[in-house]
Amino acid sequence: MKELSINRDRLWSHLSELGEIGAYHDEVADLVGVRRLALSDEDRAGRDRVVAWMRELGLSISIDEIGNIYAERAGRDASLSPVMFGSHVDSVPTGGRFDGALGVLGALEVVRTLNDAGEQTTRPLVVGAFTDEEGCRFGTDMLGSAVATGRIPLQQAYGLTDRDGLCIGDELERIGYKGKEPVNQRRPHAYVECHVEQGPTLIREGLDVGVVTMVQAISWHELTITGRSAHAGATPTSYRVDAGLAAARINVRLREMVDSGEFGELRATMGVNRPHPGMINVIPGRVIATVDMRNPDDDGMRRAEQALGRYIEELQEQTEGLRIALRRTARTDVVPFAEKVRSAVEGAANDRGLSNRRLFAGAGHDAQEWAHVCDAGMIFAPGEYDGISHNPREYSNEKQCGDSIDVLLDVVRRLAEDV
Ligand code: GLV
Ligand code: MN
Ligand code: MN
Repeated sequence: MKELSINRDRLWSHLSELGEIGAYHDEVADLVGVRRLALSDEDRAGRDRVVAWMRELGLSISIDEIGNIYAERAGRDASLSPVMFGSHVDSVPTGGRFDGALGVLGALEVVRTLNDAGEQTTRPLVVGAFTDEEGCRFGTDMLGSAVATGRIPLQQAYGLTDRDGLCIGDELERIGYKGKEPVNQRRPHAYVECHVEQGPTLIREGLDVGVVTMVQAISWHELTITGRSAHAGATPTSYRVDAGLAAARINVRLREMVDSGEFGELRATMGVNRPHPGMINVIPGRVIATVDMRNPDDDGMRRAEQALGRYIEELQEQTEGLRIALRRTARTDVVPFAEKVRSAVEGAANDRGLSNRRLFAGAGHDAQEWAHVCDAGMIFAPGEYDGISHNPREYSNEKQCGDSIDVLLDVVRRLAEDV
């Protein structure tokens, strides 16, 4: 196969251009970040930009019922299933330029490189940009790819609401991305995704790219903690039912569970903690809080969920009048990637002389959903500042992005000849 490489300047300028959409000044970090929350006006603008680039590349575009964007490039044999590659355009409200964007814009750069070289692959190629990977707004992550591959039913997804009561079905329509293509139909030959690592391993070890072996289990819950609001000064301590205190206790308990080592390599985060009424001199009568647990071991995750449930029962028994409702909003087991894709990524990195190692993904990714219907895998690009992500400081430089997308190019070409 002829040697090809992507145009790194072009990739970089597209990353910069998309990064302007939803750019905001983050007061805490004192940096410019990206806010393209799923199905917001900024997400629509980002999608429109990406679709315009897809059209420029001569791709045929299709939008499915959950708003996933598919852009197809014909192969020599139309009867063969395609190789799909991509990621997502939405971001967390305080994100950076690379999470998701590298995978989508890198995929378009792969197509551009093939177009420039006049190369047609045997299998068709499909670039995918999937709806609401982040899950920050509607409460469940990898939504678009999960609906496309059957884990989440379409009607259930349409009914999910954000904090303001707006639902996915209506918001998709509002931004013009409720497509007609039926979901749960596509069965690619393989799916590959390039993404920033979002952790410190590659950068600390001075490596060029990562070969992703699996994604760890994810368990998300929303807690509604109900106590009794009352005067902060006049209410004796023994009379109080303080929902804020209960939330704090749960948060501390989660950390104790992590530190105990009893649940494997558990990670736990209470990312939302909203007291009501949220006044200095009022004991919180209600708290909405979230729990995000990750674990590379399924058994450790199940035990952690049980332990959390038991602790919540105990808290309610200890405090008369305290009620805690626990609602599971997302749950996925460990998802291993196909050895065929892992070794293709490793082989491509080695052939290019790029140092690499195998590692698992700490974050959730669209690739884990596609892994349920085809051979799937991922390439990680290292990130500066210990790979910090979901933060405006998130940054992978031109070389880090370029190396990983060159590997994507090689893997896509290889899989597209796998007949
Ligand atoms: C997606 O970024 C996640 O929360 O893992
Ligand atoms: Mn992502
Ligand atoms: Mn993310």
